[in-house]
Amino acid sequence: MSNKSFYINQPDFILPGNTTVSILKEKDALGFHRSLEEYQPTPLIPLPDLAQQLGVGMVYVKDESKRFGLNAFKGLGASFAIHQIIQENPQVEVFCTATDGNHGKAVAWAAKKFGKKSVVFVPSDTTLNRIKAIEKEGATVIQLNKNYDDTCAHAEEASKLNNWELVQDTAWEGYETIPALIMAGYLTHFREMENEVHTLGLPEVDVVFLQVGVGSWAGAAAFYYMQRYGSQSPLLVTVEPEGSSGLLDSFKKQERTIPENPAHTIMAGLSCGIPSISGWSLLKNAVSIAVSIPDERATEAMRLLYHPKGKDQRVISGESGAAGFAGLLAILQDSRFEPVKKHLRLGPQSRILVFNTEGDTDQERFKRIIS
Ligand SMILES: Cc1ncc(COP(=O)(O)O)c(C=O)c1O
Repeated sequence: MSNKSFYINQPDFILPGNTTVSILKEKDALGFHRSLEEYQPTPLIPLPDLAQQLGVGMVYVKDESKRFGLNAFKGLGASFAIHQIIQENPQVEVFCTATDGNHGKAVAWAAKKFGKKSVVFVPSDTTLNRIKAIEKEGATVIQLNKNYDDTCAHAEEASKLNNWELVQDTAWEGYETIPALIMAGYLTHFREMENEVHTLGLPEVDVVFLQVGVGSWAGAAAFYYMQRYGSQSPLLVTVEPEGSSGLLDSFKKQERTIPENPAHTIMAGLSCGIPSISGWSLLKNAVSIAVSIPDERATEAMRLLYHPKGKDQRVISGESGAAGFAGLLAILQDSRFEPVKKHLRLGPQSRILVFNTEGDTDQERFKRIIS
């Protein structure tokens, strides 16, 4: 069932047999990340008072704003992929990528860490603050008068011409290995939660909200839950901005497609084009619900997380970081999502996991939104 803002899928929970899945099965990124001096598991924060106000059993937030001092989760993927590339080919001198923010910062940080250079291309709508944040990590940043997909194509061309190593966080036919290494890096925070869930004696969760740009991160989550739980997986819900809903549109068409009604969104990290081929191969088999939300839901979610209820802890969450939680708000509060709420059986017994995938990565805008 679908309408403009959601699609209800019937996942079969079958892991596809492709290069990406082989790499995800084989690689141990957690072991690598633990060897880094900056490494610390990020916190898993329960918000019982907020959950009570929303009429659900519990909301847990895995807070990736605390990752490696980078204010976003993306360092997990870039560091692992760059490490693996250098192991294979220590001669690589320059890493290149296209990004709308956090991935570029992560590539710059990881390249610098291994004594290498980086060149980062950004699309026309990337804000100056985000560009400065990437430059601060030592990258040469070049803004193009192009959208995200065309910026990716440009980065690929430039890498071929200049003999740079392209570290792109989205996959297309013939370019799957490096995106899979990035996805393998993302698995670290799911593995961390296994330990945390056990050591804190916390219960497992029923519904997991995953915000989607190109779908590499959510694809890694899909792999994790399918491999670990099979058909007993928690229900997975993907969340995209209304102005960039390539995954939702792909579900509706039942094939990978560019967003049908692209429009500007403040959720910069989620403002992408066609979903990753590897992300799509996993998500279509694992996701129960795909939704798209307006920007106002993201700002509402940021404010709710910043101004906690009762004894709950404050969470600093940026526009894309809050998008998963914003999806939960939309489903609970907007009657258009009634069939989705029913399908997910959201109620006082539901234990919900969301990820704060970035903190205040654009601090000026963050201050305006939460005040
Ligand atoms: C903060 C944040 N959250 C989520 C995502 C989505 O990740 P993906 O593009 O792999 O779907 C991004 C992507 O850049 C991001 O920056």
